[in-house]
Amino acid sequence: MKRSSTRLRTQSRTARRPSQPAEARAANPHAAAQASAFIVRKAKRGDVAAVTALDERITGLAKSEHWLELYDRQKKAGQPAGIFLVAIGAEAPDQLLGFIVGEIRAWEFGSAPCGWVYALSVDPQSRQLGVGEALLEAMAGEFRDAGVAKMRTMVTRDNLLPMLFFRGEGMMAGPYVQLEKDLH
Ligand SMILES: CC(C)(COP(=O)(O)OP(=O)(O)OC[C@H]1O[C@@H](n2cnc3c(N)ncnc32)[C@H](O)[C@@H]1OP(=O)(O)O)[C@@H](O)C(=O)NCCC(=O)NCCS
Repeated sequence: MKRSSTRLRTQSRTARRPSQPAEARAANPHAAAQASAFIVRKAKRGDVAAVTALDERITGLAKSEHWLELYDRQKKAGQPAGIFLVAIGAEAPDQLLGFIVGEIRAWEFGSAPCGWVYALSVDPQSRQLGVGEALLEAMAGEFRDAGVAKMRTMVTRDNLLPMLFFRGEGMMAGPYVQLEKDLH
């Protein structure tokens, strides 16, 4: 059973376990040191370049305009509609360990207001330390504080890692089925 909500303060966390096997840490001691403690806070415009770089490392696609536009659009709409959070090293605040983006949407597809998680990424060198969980919990806290009772996301059916992560965080199959059609 997962714990209850945490209101987002700038939170400092100690990573809960080593990120990698001992051999891997020995090969790259900096990696393990990176995420020994971290802070979750709201993103600033200056974080967007690091978000773009991390996303590019993970997806292989550079989408700087996308992330900047998303950040600016959310800022314009204002909290709590758009929520953009980052995890940074407690002792290395210029080091982005991960980020999460969400938004509250109402009455689309007939759904009561709910919080959507659009994007969540953790630096591969800082994984399995609780960073992803801390980001998701912080996002859930923001949604709860805004009065919504449901959090949703979408994952690619055959992408095992996010599926394991979200299931581990207590997220279950919902009532909707996604439909699509090729228009070319
Ligand atoms: C999915 C992702 C965000 C997880 O981040 P993380 O910081 O490594 O996750 P955490 O350390 O907080 O792990 C939380 C739980 O997720 C599950 N989990 C995380 N990594 C896992 C792995 N490699 N294998 C199996 N389960 C895993 C576990 O249930 C874990 O809880 P536990 O350690 O108590 O068993 C990260 O792997 C990532 O950025 N992946 C690439 C991008 C992506 O798939 N994003 C999500 C969809 S947008």
